[in-house]
Order: sequence, then structure tokens, then C-alpha cells
Amino acid sequence: MIELKGKPVADFIYQQITSELQSWKSSGWSLPHLAVILVGADPASQVYVQHKQKACEKLGFKSSLVQLAENITEKDLTEKIKQLNSDSSIDGILMQLPLPTHLDAKKFSDLIAKEKDADALTSSSLGLLVTGQQIIASCTPFGIIEMLDFYKLNVAKKNVLVIGRSLIVGLPLFHLLTQKNATVTLAHSQTVDLKSRLKEFDFVFVAIGKPEYFKPTDFKKDAVVIDVGIHRLENGLVGDVSSAGAAEHLSAFTPVPGGVGPTTIALLMRNTFKLAEKNRKFAT
Ligand code: GUN
Repeated sequence: MIELKGKPVADFIYQQITSELQSWKSSGWSLPHLAVILVGADPASQVYVQHKQKACEKLGFKSSLVQLAENITEKDLTEKIKQLNSDSSIDGILMQLPLPTHLDAKKFSDLIAKEKDADALTSSSLGLLVTGQQIIASCTPFGIIEMLDFYKLNVAKKNVLVIGRSLIVGLPLFHLLTQKNATVTLAHSQTVDLKSRLKEFDFVFVAIGKPEYFKPTDFKKDAVVIDVGIHRLENGLVGDVSSAGAAEHLSAFTPVPGGVGPTTIALLMRNTFKLAEKNRKFAT
């Protein structure tokens, strides 16, 4: 079985960005700049945001953290996003999710200017993805596609299953896999009797958000299983799929932690870089 570790994939992407930054620097352009909005003080979000800032630092990008109070009003958040949209020194904006419950994530994500949508979560970015015109895509699904390429796992003509239809993972992944010529089935919380159908699929992408909901033998023998879930249980971090027996039953499997996770921030950096490149070219 191949253990699909994310770190080598992320390192490969960081190397690509670093080498492209060499010619960037000689062009005299200012360095890419990512602004991260954090509303409230959710501990997990704080950690994720710190990792994003560290990645910027490591590459030499500029980063700004915009920390806003948990009880911010809709009006004030709208104002803040508009202000960042019109700040010409900023290339990419990411609003860390989840937002506090009084704020509608879809509505506020959609206020981010499409030229600065580093997370590719606006209706505009999702529309470009559906029509195959995207230059960036949501970081987790984009990282998964990079991982497939890196480990030379070809989904073309394969029956593949995506479990979960979120705007941040399942839905964009459905489109990216379709662009790779896979035959894609999208299952979700209303799918009837999902477990009985799992053995039909060569590749399964699991983003169901329930700790160890599946076990490796639920899938076809020698299937490739990509687990997007990460949950903190008393005995440590686990995915949506339990790992016991994966080596014997599957041909490739993502460890949790250390699988999909490390690719996500690398893709955020690449998205920011691509937006910055487009913005600089547009401005000259
Ligand atoms: N929360 C967890 N993952 C993500 C992500 O990829 N983007 C944003 N904006 N929020 C998240």
C-alpha cells in the first residue's frame, strides 16, 4: 500500500513557488500579500491562521491578520471586507471559517473581491470552476488533485466517489475530478444506503465530518481512499476512516494526520501567488 503523505507534495509546491519568486524579485514587483480575516477566537481557527501566516513568512510573502470581535455586526464586517478589497497592497483575502453563528458564511465570503479570493469560495470563483476556467480552486480539493498527480494516481475513466457536498471540499472536488475525466458520483447526507454502494468505486474521497465513520474494509479491495476528515479524540487525531487494516485492504490511503492536511496551506500559498501574478500583470 502507498501511504499518501502530504508533506512531500507540499514541499514540492513550496519549491515551485520559491523558484518562481526568484524571477518575480528581479522584476521589481512587490511581494505577494495575503490578508487573513479571523472573526472571534475559536482555538482551532487561531491555530490554522497561525499556520497560514507562518507559511507566508517562510516563503517571504507579506501577511496581515485582521482580527475581529466575535460579536462584530454584519455592517462592520461588510465595511471591513470592502476596505480590504479596495486596498491595492493586498493580493489575496481569506476569511477563516467557521464564522460565528450570527454571520452567514456564504453571504460574507461572497463579498470578497473575485480578484482577491484566495480561498476560491465566492460564487464567481465557483462559477469559473464549473465552467473549467479557474486559475485557482479551493485549497483542500486543489491539494487533493496535486496529491493524485504527485503520486501518479490517474482517475481518468475510473469510477470515483466523493462523499460530502460542501462548497469548500466536496463540490469543488466533484468538478476538479470531472475535469480529470473521472466518472464522479457525489454522495451526501441524504444519500440512501451509502455503505452498501462503496465497493463500486476505485477511488473514494471522504469528507463526511464524522470520526472513523468508515473502516477500510467498507471499500473495494485495492481502492484508493483519500480521507479529508480530522477529529481530535481522547486517543489523538483521527480521520473519517479508521486506519486499522488499511495497509492490507487498500492500495493507497492518506494518513491522518499528515495526509491531505499539509497540502492545503501550500495550495493557499500558490493561490495567493497566482492572484498576485495576475494582479501585477493587470496593473502593468
Ligand atoms: N476552515 C477550515 N478550513 C478552511 C479553509 O480552507 N478555508 C477557510 N476560509 N476556512 C477554513
